Amino acid sequence: MNDNATNTVPGTDLYDHEWKHPTLVAGVPWKNPVGTASGTFQYAAVRWFYDVSRLGAVTTKGVSPVPWEGNPGVRTAEGPASNINAVGLQNPGVDHYLVDDLPKLKEIGANVVANVAGHSDDDYAEVVAKLADSPADMLEINVSCPNVSAGGMSVGTDPVALSRLITRLRGMTDKPMIVKLTPNVTDITVPARAAAEAGADALSLINTIVGMRIDTRTGRPVIDHVTGGVSGPAVLPIGLARVWQVRTALPDIPIIGIGGIDSGEKALEYLYAGANAVEVGAAALFDPIAPLRVARELDDLLDERPELAARLAAGETWR
Ligand SMILES: Cc1cc2nc3c(=O)[nH]c(=O)nc-3n(C[C@H](O)[C@H](O)[C@H](O)COP(=O)(O)O)c2cc1C
Repeated sequence: MNDNATNTVPGTDLYDHEWKHPTLVAGVPWKNPVGTASGTFQYAAVRWFYDVSRLGAVTTKGVSPVPWEGNPGVRTAEGPASNINAVGLQNPGVDHYLVDDLPKLKEIGANVVANVAGHSDDDYAEVVAKLADSPADMLEINVSCPNVSAGGMSVGTDPVALSRLITRLRGMTDKPMIVKLTPNVTDITVPARAAAEAGADALSLINTIVGMRIDTRTGRPVIDHVTGGVSGPAVLPIGLARVWQVRTALPDIPIIGIGGIDSGEKALEYLYAGANAVEVGAAALFDPIAPLRVARELDDLLDERPELAARLAAGETWR
């Protein structure tokens, strides 16, 4: 008989499985190679489904210096195998994060990656200054936000602006710093190299891809912001290609692969492309336990691949 009241899925050991295959990301141990992707996980909601400290890492929603309301009107559109969002980085601000989500996640023993948002270099610096002495285990700098210091473009599309920003943030903290890259560029190895040379300890990729839908009854865009970020199963091949390209250009930097992962098999594709770990995003929007299920499936797939598992545990990658 199963005496774990939260284990409601018959025939599975999702909630009490002992992880066999850890990974190491920029020196930080993850008990398995699967984390949540920023913006698709809310502790207040997900805590009712499972113990999120079982994940390799919990990456929280981007936090800004002050609360942001996000974009008005319709902000999401569903499509074939995809989700488009223009939430606009709505969040209650870093001060709220420091007294609410972060201590609650640390209390249960989660490995926390704090995602940082900003509309200017000063915004990012203000958040990093406040997180520098916090219990967050790693910082993930989301350089896809529209940035006034970069003329309204996201700072991640301009290697000079990116280098300036990461150099500044690097000087403010010794915490392991992940730079989360946008795929909305011609050659992702250019910002990847700029971030690495400016002191990033790891890279995560990909963030969402610019897209839109039209409502044919009105002839108007479905999303009031017109365009949004595409995520979900449709972006898997794009994320894989970007990870492959960055791994080829930068053989040594730790990489977290993101985009379209909803099974252990797809996570495994990212590990073979050269990632040290993965994050699961949109899949969790309609199946809150998706990241845990992916981790569980991957753990067995790695049993059959001892060489890959050994490399991950040592902080190395397949290629
Ligand atoms: C609703 C929503 C909100 C998101 N918010 C953030 C965010 O705050 N910061 C960030 O770096 N990425 C954010 N993302 C991007 C995801 O973390 C992830 O990079 C992207 O969705 C691709 O992965 P997926 O296909 O598994 O969703 C968001 C994605 C979605 C769908």
